[in-house]
Amino acid sequence: MKDKKVGIIGAGGRGLGLARSIAYSNHNMRVASLCDKYEERAQESKESIERVFSEAGKPTKVRTYSDYKELIDNDDLDLIMITAPQFFHEEPFRYALKKGKRVFCEKPLAHSMEAIDNMYDAWTENNKKNAMVGFTRRYENTWRRAKEIIDKGWIGNVKMTLMRSVIHHPSYFHKWYSQVEYSGGVLNEKSAHHFDVLNWFSGAKPQMISAMGGRSVYTPQDAYPEWCNECDKNCEYRFSYNEDFKNQSQRQSPIYIKTAVNSKDEFLAKDKCVYAKDTNTIDHAIVNISYENGIKGQLFLSVFGYHTEDMETLEVVGDKGKLRLERVSGKIEVDYDYGREHMTIDARGKYHNDGTGHFGADIEIINAINGFVCNDIKPPANVYDGYIASRMSFLATESCKTNKVYEI
Ligand SMILES: NC(=O)c1ccc[n+]([C@@H]2O[C@H](COP(=O)([O-])OP(=O)(O)OC[C@H]3O[C@@H](n4cnc5c(N)ncnc54)[C@H](O)[C@@H]3O)[C@@H](O)[C@H]2O)c1
Repeated sequence: MKDKKVGIIGAGGRGLGLARSIAYSNHNMRVASLCDKYEERAQESKESIERVFSEAGKPTKVRTYSDYKELIDNDDLDLIMITAPQFFHEEPFRYALKKGKRVFCEKPLAHSMEAIDNMYDAWTENNKKNAMVGFTRRYENTWRRAKEIIDKGWIGNVKMTLMRSVIHHPSYFHKWYSQVEYSGGVLNEKSAHHFDVLNWFSGAKPQMISAMGGRSVYTPQDAYPEWCNECDKNCEYRFSYNEDFKNQSQRQSPIYIKTAVNSKDEFLAKDKCVYAKDTNTIDHAIVNISYENGIKGQLFLSVFGYHTEDMETLEVVGDKGKLRLERVSGKIEVDYDYGREHMTIDARGKYHNDGTGHFGADIEIINAINGFVCNDIKPPANVYDGYIASRMSFLATESCKTNKVYEI
């Protein structure tokens, strides 16, 4: 069978990570083209992808572009993968759909209300076909298993959900994610995932949303230089190109070393000070949501947490029991029969700890892409899921400023 050809738009951390997953997948699929705004990065990414595919025993030649339209028009691609920053999802997404291409778009769908509205409309005009979204938890075994248990009725009718995420993510302040104009803020960059989980487990349309949140640890401070590389302070949140690159997986480090170190470009640098004054996103929030079916959901988020087994958990309370999922350990605890019975499940899938990315999700994303491209199999997350999660992110961010409750 002829290989399916993928073109990547935005060849940074995520683009390269997914390229690697394609290379090591069991599918006849290869990266044939890539587009990046920066020529030097496009060249490094091309070399990195060709090396990875060759190591995986599937040699490929990658064509590079700086104009996404040329990539979409030229190479007879079977899938366009959009892994650029979210402020640059809308343009290639709409163009690719218009040209009849299938699209995998990374979450969050986009950075602004206007952009998500436009993308949702474009997808609707396209009969709600040909696009999928990369909400990793929808592809992770632990979350899928928890959803199955709930759907089988073990805890009765779902009444309340709590998504808790206390994570170590100064990286949201070290790079372009820190600017709301580019990312839509942390409640979009990170918590689009969380809102999607709450929506998925609630199985209903979200109705109302309110939030409290702000910047309470990564606060603006005069005494720090703008870049970690120029700073001699003893700081918990320092980004060190040497240390952090050493700790990163092989798939990412070579690409950043040349183009990121000492760069002051907002899309290349990764070492902006977490205390920078021009950063405008938040570092913590509590968000309340009500659903049409009466379920009440809550998000509890802090990005100044630590690496612990319980750094991301989901708790679902039903009228006959409750379930608690721990993402890192892949453990699910279920209390059922009105709390008389208890079971603990090890729900890790076979790729959970193999370093392929997102507790096995990245491999399952490629499996889903293969089904979507070859057999038109419905993807686990679609454009509506992306649209509604980002809409909730923007309204919650607004509510942090206004203290108002918003209709979703
Ligand atoms: N599903 C997940 O869990 C997950 C994980 C990581 C990132 N992401 C998403 O993937 C996207 C990329 O994130 P990242 O961490 O790889 O960012 P990154 O900064 O590492 O890479 C982005 C790349 O896009 C390029 N770029 C910037 N503007 C461009 C433009 N106009 N045209 C073409 N290329 C352009 C940059 O040069 C860079 O190479 C974001 O939307 C992010 O939220 C999703």
